This record gives sequence, C-alpha cells and structure tokens, in this order.
Amino acid sequence: MDNRPIGVFDSGLGGLTVLDEIMKLMPTESIVYFGDCGRTPYGTKSREMVVKYTFQDIRFLLNQDIKMIVIACNTASACSLELVKNNFNIPVIEVVQPGAKTAVRMTKNKKIGVIGTEGTINSGVYGKTINKIDNTVQIISKACPLFVPLVETGWWDNDIAGRTAEEYLIPLKNEGIDVLVLGCTHYPLLKGVISKVMGDDVALVSSALEVAKVVKEAIEEYDMARDEKIKPVYRYYTSDSVEKFESLGSLILKKEIRSVEKVDIEKY
Ligand code: DGL
Repeated sequence: MDNRPIGVFDSGLGGLTVLDEIMKLMPTESIVYFGDCGRTPYGTKSREMVVKYTFQDIRFLLNQDIKMIVIACNTASACSLELVKNNFNIPVIEVVQPGAKTAVRMTKNKKIGVIGTEGTINSGVYGKTINKIDNTVQIISKACPLFVPLVETGWWDNDIAGRTAEEYLIPLKNEGIDVLVLGCTHYPLLKGVISKVMGDDVALVSSALEVAKVVKEAIEEYDMARDEKIKPVYRYYTSDSVEKFESLGSLILKKEIRSVEKVDIEKY
C-alpha cells in the first residue's frame, strides 16, 4: 500500500484528458497535476528545450512526494522518455506505447494515420513503436501545430477549429487510413471536429483510456494502491494564469476545479 499521490504532467491542459480517465478508473487514488501552460506549446520547441522542461516538471512533482510519474504529453514522451527513465528512480508511465498498441489492434487494412505536434511527428516515435509491433503496417503521419493553441484557447468546436481540422486531415483521409491515432493529449478535446472530417469509417484512438489502464496495472504490479478508506485528494498546479486553468480545466473535467496554485517552474 502507498498513500502518496500519482504525479501527472503535460505542457498545458491536454493532459487533463489523461487525468480524467485515471480518476474514473482509479477513483481512490490521489493525484497531483501540473500543466505547464506558461510554456506551452512544447511541440514546436527543440528537443533540448523539451527535455529541459520535462526534467523541471518532474523535479517539481517529485517535490510533492509522489509515488509514480505519468508523462501525459506525447511530445515530452517522444523527446525524453529514455533520459527520464535513466535519471529518475520512480515508476514512469508514458503515452505513446499504449496508443500505438491499440491502433495496431484496431486496424484492418493496416494503414494507420498519426497526428501530433511537430516534435512528436518529427521524432518518428509512433512509426517506430507501431512497426516494432507489426512491421507490415503503413503509417501516414501529419503534424498539426495549430491544434494545441486552439485547445489552450478553449476553441474546441467552432468554425475555426473545424476549418483547421479540414486543412490538416482531408489529405490523411484521402490516403485511405482506417485508424487515426490522436498522438497528442490535447487532441481528444477536438474529437468532434476531427471525426466530422474523418467520417465513420476511420476509428479514432485516444491514448488517454489506454494510459489509465497501464497506470492501474503498474499500481497493482508495484503494490502501490492507496488505502480505499481515505478520501482521495486532487491538487492542480499551473505555470500561468490560475483563473484560466480553473475555467478551462473545469470544462474539460466536467466538474469544478478550485484552489489551483501557480508554480514558478523555472526554479526547479
Ligand atoms: N499534450 C502535448 C502532447 O501530447 C502537447 C504538446 C504541446 O505542448 O505542443 O504532445
């Protein structure tokens, strides 16, 4: 048994899609979430910068006495997973492998589309991971850099989001893929506009639920479950406006988030 919280972080609000699934699957676990909204997006930054930010985010969470890290950010996972595993002595869960596995399981025509940030797509991490599982799968990938700022602005389902989705996704649809991996934790919030472009014949894979399942397995494997009799505590931190995090975060989690605290992340 381990009553310490799970630490989850992302470059901003997108990781709340992962947090939401963890809360649903493990309602007795306490969680500390850090959203680096002041430095988002990570996806357009150099690998060195993303590694530096990721290490700072983790050092901050370790200061909160957590028992496990969930990197709820594909870009951070793509750029720094190995370095994180080699430098921090704590169980680490990432988002790429679970989504890749699900996509391979779901494809029938072996043509998988992957969308993500420039950092994630340029790293080729999904292609490598998918082809390690099945090397006959063809992968068509596309960076969608405007999606993250749309989400961070709260523009999830308006005309501009719809038009942007068309611009990015029609070429992918024309390739005949039957599965599309949402390779960024911000993208499930754009599911409405994305599925409108892709249509019913293309299955969307959001890794959030798959990641939550992996977290649950790891908690069981390490015998780290929290005492079910103690009420879970959720704490939220951001590196930018607390008010913005509270209002958009509450919409994403469909429950009111209060008492968000601001962190000077450059200190870590
Ligand atoms: N949610 C992050 C990801 O999954 C967002 C990336 C960004 O900040 O650009 O990649």
